[in-house]
Amino acid sequence: MTKPTLLSGVKPSGQLHVGNYLGAIKQFVDLQHKYNMYVMVADYHALNTVQSKEKMQQQTKELVAAYVAVGLDPKKVTIFKQSDIPQHTELTWIFNTITTMPYLMRAHAFKDAEAKNKDISVGTFDYPMLMASDILLYSPDVVPVGKDQKQHIEFARDTAQKFNNTYGETFTLPKELIPAEVAIIPGIDGQKMSKSYNNVIPLFGTDEDIDKAVMGIKTDSKEKGVALDPTTDITFKLHEHFSKKQIEELRERYLKGSIGYKESKEILATNIKELVGPMRETYTALLNNPNKIKKILDKGAKRAGKVAAAKMKEVKRAIGVTQ
Ligand code: TYM
Repeated sequence: MTKPTLLSGVKPSGQLHVGNYLGAIKQFVDLQHKYNMYVMVADYHALNTVQSKEKMQQQTKELVAAYVAVGLDPKKVTIFKQSDIPQHTELTWIFNTITTMPYLMRAHAFKDAEAKNKDISVGTFDYPMLMASDILLYSPDVVPVGKDQKQHIEFARDTAQKFNNTYGETFTLPKELIPAEVAIIPGIDGQKMSKSYNNVIPLFGTDEDIDKAVMGIKTDSKEKGVALDPTTDITFKLHEHFSKKQIEELRERYLKGSIGYKESKEILATNIKELVGPMRETYTALLNNPNKIKKILDKGAKRAGKVAAAKMKEVKRAIGVTQ
């Protein structure tokens, strides 16, 4: 029986954080045996914000090293770079011609940028069409992402439908996979954890980086000895992911007032470091072996390229630019 297909991606736009890990990358690892899996380095998406050759090169290597360090097996999973497969940008153009500006103006990311009065690049405006191409070229059954990407998957689905209505059945309509418990991982200030909010716990930071971020988690001003509310405390929300074995004991101590925020944070930092420690060793070893990273990406590009080229042939026939 052939396995169902899964595709997802992460931008190499800075330090990976615990939100990327829990919201997306951990899912890839858990699902890699069940799916025919494509995991992408979305470097052309990152180009909207990363405009330095050195950073792009370094962050791309870091992301590939992270994929492998958290447990993706490059023999089973196709790990590839978006920019290695020209069909992604080629299909974006075709989608641009069936998409209207008012439709793209509904994108949350565009609206946020507009609200901040930013000079919005065409690349940012067109971001959803590149993402639709990333997805639709590989006909995935599911696309695992965090909740912030839900609208982008809806755009990909709409675009597939629109293309099929215009030119005939060509694309499979993709579905997002967003497990409720990891849909929005909070950052140290309680907002969604995000590089752009400066509220992240770095996944592969040093022990000191992790300690510093965790000790900086926002709390109310309750003293030790007073009952704490596990349903609103940010540290507790993170315990639910990193302190699974102790979670009932922690909940009880919160309710009884027998733990203070400082101790709770120390436990959390210890558990994060315990999980990340062994991964960090693989991560560092791979980063010191750029040749291995290149080989993984070259192999991934070959595999992904075949699928993308076959789909593009279908698309070009459907639109009438080839016979
Ligand atoms: P990016 O690089 O911003 O984030 C990568 C993944 O991490 C998830 N994520 C979170 N999940 C839960 N809580 C959080 N605080 C949190 N922060 C980030 C994101 O939802 C995402 O799943 N546009 C995508 C990259 C992309 C892509 C694709 C994804 C490009 N093409 C095709 C899927 C399919 C992005 O910016 O992710």
